[in-house]
Amino acid sequence: MTEQIIILDFGSQYTQVIARRIRECKVYSVILRYDTPAAKIAALKPSGIILSGGPSSVYAKKAPLPDKRIFQLGLPMLGICYGIQLFAQFLGGKVESGQKREYGKGALKVKDRSCRLFARLPETLQVWNSHGDKLTKLPPGFKPVAVTENSHFAAIENRARKMFGLQFHPEVAHTPRGKEILANFVHTICGCGKNWTMHNYIEQAVQAIRSQAGKERVILGLSGGVDSSVAAALIHRAVGKQLTCIFVNNGVLRGREAEVVRRVFVRHFKIKLHYVNASKLFLSRLRGVTDPECKRKIIGKTFIEVFEAATRRAGNAKFLAQGTLYPDVIESVPIAGNPAAMIKSHHNVGGLPKKMKFQLVEPLKCLFKDEVRELGLELGLPREIVLRQPYPGPGLAVRILGEVTPERLQILRNADTIVVTEMKNAGWYYRIWQSFAVLLPVRSVGVMGDERTYDYTIAIRAVESQDGMTADWVKLPYELLEKLANRIINEVKGVNRCVFDITSKPPGTIEWE
Ligand code: XMP
Repeated sequence: MTEQIIILDFGSQYTQVIARRIRECKVYSVILRYDTPAAKIAALKPSGIILSGGPSSVYAKKAPLPDKRIFQLGLPMLGICYGIQLFAQFLGGKVESGQKREYGKGALKVKDRSCRLFARLPETLQVWNSHGDKLTKLPPGFKPVAVTENSHFAAIENRARKMFGLQFHPEVAHTPRGKEILANFVHTICGCGKNWTMHNYIEQAVQAIRSQAGKERVILGLSGGVDSSVAAALIHRAVGKQLTCIFVNNGVLRGREAEVVRRVFVRHFKIKLHYVNASKLFLSRLRGVTDPECKRKIIGKTFIEVFEAATRRAGNAKFLAQGTLYPDVIESVPIAGNPAAMIKSHHNVGGLPKKMKFQLVEPLKCLFKDEVRELGLELGLPREIVLRQPYPGPGLAVRILGEVTPERLQILRNADTIVVTEMKNAGWYYRIWQSFAVLLPVRSVGVMGDERTYDYTIAIRAVESQDGMTADWVKLPYELLEKLANRIINEVKGVNRCVFDITSKPPGTIEWE
């Protein structure tokens, strides 16, 4: 990788957003801990450094501070929010705790139109603020370039040293033209080209996989989800028949899931696939179990057993491939007040045990989810796979409240197929984070024709979310809800009632278990 921007993470909830925005500018970016030694940063030969925001105050006792030598590297620097305070702290300015916390929308006025950070941008910009402390005296060599109602130093620069500071957050959607500010920083100021594309990445990744794997065999657990599917297609492009995929049918898959995976990977890509149908084993272990955590544990443990046995049968592979993504490997900064740090481990379940003696191949380790999807399309995977919504590892088991039985699975599968089909037909499926059916363990009375019924209830859930950590329910049109309910009640035997879940997360969760 020739050109890259280093982002030092001081615990901002937006650090990953900064990294994504830079990559959207087609420039590679890497997140490092705030205290990464300057020598290590210099060795990476970055084109520039961005200091993220953060929840601390530079004067706080345990304030996260960078290695002071980073200011002597002679690299272009952009300090965002807390980052601007660091300039003051290390280069001789002054920060005071603001009387009034500046939070929310503000209007920025660019006073010095010659500042290259604001090139090709209008004089007035809408920006998003979120800070308590405030810069009150500039470090020597800096001058103000833009102001807000509350701050004379909303944007500052030291032109000679190519150092810039922004009091507001250019990375968030509430600063609508913020991406252009970041683009000016990386292209105009740091001089980066637009070389980071998935098209270019394939070549580089294929070479890396080939040199890692040599002539050895690689095994990959294919779930049918986006990450493992894209990893499979990429590794197959690199080492072809050396790759064996293992697909475990755990009995709680959606309708046609196994069929879709076989069609795409075996028939289209001609990838070697071992299909292991272990549904009987999974379902027998789930019999009589109603506790959600128990269900998850049983499925996780059984999966490992079945997968291990399958890898043994597949012969002596040296490598195990995983679809690990960049957000899983970024070392989180455990600073109080950073929600991202707290939530992190929530879903890191179902990992494979360390005792499996494989070396790991993780070709998506430096990519964000949107990049993985782009990569998948570039590799020729169908939209049906690449753009699919997230699906939990424990599958339909956590969408059947109470005991998982073959009868209930059939009901939920049928209802789920209707939800997915109609959401796709109406153009909603690919616009939102998730939409699915949940089977409730209650029966209620209804009438169908002249007969009294006493059947199950299906809940429809549709949420929008950026990352699954928080979510809001989607205001689907009434006509679509009506169609979903009509079809489910008329076509799915055993269901006589449909409800729509209008709970956001928090306080609810996306899945019901
Ligand atoms: P919750 O229900 O916690 O879900 O709001 C957040 C997101 O995570 C998915 N999810 C899982 N994914 N294994 C997974 O791989 C799991 O055990 C699991 N549980 C929930 C869920 O579908 C949602 O997108």
